[in-house]
Amino acid sequence: MTAPQPVSEPMLGTDTPPVRLEVSDLRVHYPTGRGFVRAVDGISFSVDPGEYLGLVGESGCGKSTVVKAILQLLPTDTRVEGQILVDGEDLLSASADRVRALRWTKLALIAQSAMNALDPVYRIGEQIAESIHAHIDVSNEAARERARELFALVGIAPERLDDYPHQFSGGMRQRAVIAMALSLNAGLLLADEPTTALDPIMQDQVLGRLHRIHEALQRSMILVTHDMAVVAETCESIAVMYAGKIMETGPTRQLLAAPCHPYTMGLRNAFPTMKEDAPELISIPGTLPDLVDPPPGCRFASRCPFMTAKCEQIEPELVEVSPGHSVACHYADRAGELREQAARREVWVQVETRWESEGVSA
Ligand SMILES: Nc1ncnc2c1ncn2[C@@H]1O[C@H](COP(=O)(O)OP(=O)(O)OP(=O)(O)O)[C@@H](O)[C@H]1O
Ligand code: SF4
Ligand SMILES: [Mg+2]
Repeated sequence: MTAPQPVSEPMLGTDTPPVRLEVSDLRVHYPTGRGFVRAVDGISFSVDPGEYLGLVGESGCGKSTVVKAILQLLPTDTRVEGQILVDGEDLLSASADRVRALRWTKLALIAQSAMNALDPVYRIGEQIAESIHAHIDVSNEAARERARELFALVGIAPERLDDYPHQFSGGMRQRAVIAMALSLNAGLLLADEPTTALDPIMQDQVLGRLHRIHEALQRSMILVTHDMAVVAETCESIAVMYAGKIMETGPTRQLLAAPCHPYTMGLRNAFPTMKEDAPELISIPGTLPDLVDPPPGCRFASRCPFMTAKCEQIEPELVEVSPGHSVACHYADRAGELREQAARREVWVQVETRWESEGVSA
């Protein structure tokens, strides 16, 4: 156990500097009976102090694994390589005590399921105060006051601190979990699908709050989601993952207005509200490759309408196409032309036909 840190400064506010995160060549391979699942396989990205980065990609592409690697919450037999620098300090070579100290103070998780994160038998205010007490040496009164401030910040009347979790709506519970994650002023928030379990109105409430927190406190954040529309509303930059790799990354507005990777083009089609001229939903046929034995070339090749023999043999590198915007596709220089084609349903139907002719159900 690390000793509690005395606190003399006011706890709420912009006094805790936002964290800079640099992830380099991160590999996370899980052992299974069939061999290692290469869930994350050589990814690099950074989050500047105060930046909100959206990490998107379909189910199973490795998003939660990235979050767990940063928080060091992976099973002990997992093979982890690379570097995770938090304000220049490498988490992967830090001691367990040091990592525990950094968790909560520099890194905080906003869990996906509020029901799991909150204990049903304790009042919510007590739980927030308890999490503060567990890490910082403050009086009961100061912890309670801190909990009141946090409730106000996430838009819940402080009188509701004495409620039990079941007395809250789903959106309120999720906002209470955000309050708990903010309780120690961590410089980097890791939010793994914080709104997935909520209906659209509650989703809006929670995302609106995250947005306001961003403006008020300027923390750094990684927001994990499979919903491009959520990232478009919340994050200034985006990293698109597919089968353990980053396929495209850059400023959200630019990347969504003019995606350069066929997978991002396909994801954009699947969220039609983001494209005024194509209200029709077009899904990407096929499924992720087997991560125990991924294909040698481009991992998206089996589902890509523009795949060539080169794509199947040579893996494309992530290359910068404009300042801050990088793409892993051999044909990124033809992105304008590919974008026009990718907007047409028949282009994706060809991929579906390919899957069907190979006897694999898309
Ligand atoms: N403990 C584990 N042991 C073996 N394989 C695992 C383990 N955890 C995750 N995986 C595998 O790693 C891959 C990535 O999983 P991960 O949970 O990171 O995906 P995700 O992008 O968060 O998906 P989702 O959107 O469904 O949450 C998947 O193939 C998954 O089956
Ligand atoms: S490298 Fe080839 S298969 Fe991969 S996304 Fe680009 S065009 Fe498609
Ligand atoms: Mg996940």
